Amino acid sequence: MSPIVIFDSGVGGLSIFDDVHQQLPWLPMVYCSDNAGFPYGSKSEAEVEERASQCLTYLQKTYRPQVMVIACNTASTVALPRARQVLSVPVIGVVPAIKTAASLSKNHCIGLLATRGTIKRPYTDQLIREFASHCEVIRIGSSELVHLVEQQLRGLPINQAYLSEILSPFFDRLQSPDHIVLGCTHFPLIKAELSISAPDVCWVDSGLAIARQVSTLVSQSETTPKQATHRAVFTQASDTIEALRPALHARGIDDVQLVAQE
Ligand code: DGL
Repeated sequence: MSPIVIFDSGVGGLSIFDDVHQQLPWLPMVYCSDNAGFPYGSKSEAEVEERASQCLTYLQKTYRPQVMVIACNTASTVALPRARQVLSVPVIGVVPAIKTAASLSKNHCIGLLATRGTIKRPYTDQLIREFASHCEVIRIGSSELVHLVEQQLRGLPINQAYLSEILSPFFDRLQSPDHIVLGCTHFPLIKAELSISAPDVCWVDSGLAIARQVSTLVSQSETTPKQATHRAVFTQASDTIEALRPALHARGIDDVQLVAQE
């Protein structure tokens, strides 16, 4: 069966992988981390668009997937139109779940925790205008948090005090958000730690909605196996890949490759 491709700059897309796997355990997946381009959050829009479309084109040619997921808000908020133009398979993008948070908020104050790139995108402004005009929206852009998650997936503990410090602008104010959008796919991977720092907040991410979209697009036949095999692909050799192996193995990903150099 053709796989689906899940693409991110780093390990963040594994949060989307987890939600898709939980819903569709028989679906083979190719997880790609553009670790040569990581982090995307501090790159220009043009650079992110270029890298993402080059990687996705390579992945389509090499793995012939049935669906591709840009499991990265930073990339989806700029690269989605071009990706849909150049690729011949359906492309799903992951963007901040502003609409959900705004509709659930009781105090009409919501937070957006994302990369520095995502919080200032015109796409994000448009989402807020369209779906959250009745809310106060507090934005925190953090690349430090992205790095903390990368380290945690490599087996290092999260510094809880540092995490609380990153979140503090949400709470050092008269009215604090009751719902916070995890607008970077890295962040749902540390939801437990986020809840320790901010126990009264509802964290909102896009994972389940993406898994549902994937399930409407993929084909299943009578011969579909119960469990699928998966593969991870990196764009650059690095020591950090070895350190990630246990986190990949825990997800049934033991086949780890580097993209072929042209
Ligand atoms: N995981 C990516 C996102 O959802 C961003 C990480 C990065 O800065 O590369 O935005």
